[in-house]
Amino acid sequence: MKERLEALLNKIESFEIKAIEQTEQFRLQFLSKKGELNDLFEEFKSIPNEYKREIGQKLNVLKNKAQEKFDEANNKFSSDKLKNTKSEIELTLPSEVDFAGSRHPLAIVENEIVEIFKRLGFVYEDGPEIEDDWHNFSALNFPENHPARDMQDTFFIAEEIALRTHTSSVQVRLMENQNPPIRAIMPGRVYRNEAISARANCFFHQIEGIYIDEKVSFADLKQTLFYFVQQLFGNDINVRFRPSYFPFTEPSAEMDISCLLCKGKGCNVCKYTGWLEILGCGMIDPNVLKASNIDPEKYTGFAFGMGIERIAMLKFEVKDLRTYFSNDTRFLKQFESI
Ligand code: DAH
Repeated sequence: MKERLEALLNKIESFEIKAIEQTEQFRLQFLSKKGELNDLFEEFKSIPNEYKREIGQKLNVLKNKAQEKFDEANNKFSSDKLKNTKSEIELTLPSEVDFAGSRHPLAIVENEIVEIFKRLGFVYEDGPEIEDDWHNFSALNFPENHPARDMQDTFFIAEEIALRTHTSSVQVRLMENQNPPIRAIMPGRVYRNEAISARANCFFHQIEGIYIDEKVSFADLKQTLFYFVQQLFGNDINVRFRPSYFPFTEPSAEMDISCLLCKGKGCNVCKYTGWLEILGCGMIDPNVLKASNIDPEKYTGFAFGMGIERIAMLKFEVKDLRTYFSNDTRFLKQFESI
């Protein structure tokens, strides 16, 4: 038996593997079920016990050697094969045309806005689309008989439960669950019971922002929003703030940007005013802070909210709101490269 082991070792060692075909020959001759190693293992079963230990060890060494030699050759030739197939790739052939899909224009604008605010340290947050009266209205200081609570504007699902009419409800959820400083940007879909037209839809998208800390001022609000529109539309944009009213902010303002088309000279897009309204904002009303257990003596904050459809309309010169939701690929394909 010992001599046969020696002989097999020699055979294995001297077997030359020069090509992939010989790797297979090697495997068949030595490692397969009908191979020479297996024959020896069969014979091993019948040798006297006192030899088993020594012969068994030798057999194992031999088997490992054969396996190693096979693995090495196999790796070598299969990686050579890969290399060869690679070099056969013809790089000058035209590629297969594959429609990669595109982002929806509203998603493009939403991402861009969120990214700008992230650079200022705002974090992304979201909240539920089905809201209770408290988060959508009461905690935001809407008086009991405010017209926005009216059935004509709001889709009610049950008593005191509605589809949110604005993303300002997410502000309340954050204020209830976090301690200042809070700096967040909150995009989402909102719903209003409106007749569908080129300028209105029963659902649309908003982005809400809040910043609450000690000593946050109206100057911080103005500078943050000025930076934002310059990042979004370019450095030659002008802004103006007009006094306005929202129940949840005091003072409140609306921000206009200089018309993107006529640069302020006056055209039919800006209705010859030179300005385009793009968002509502203000200092968070102390009642709103109090409703969420934030001390208005210690903290102040600003908030803002804007419609994504409107900004996308300005950015991409979309004329009819309904095109966003009609799934017409002729419209959507125009955004492939963005
Ligand atoms: N929630 C308002 C709307 O739906 C938008 C808005 C205005 C949000 C002023 C704000 C804000 O946070 O400060 O029209």
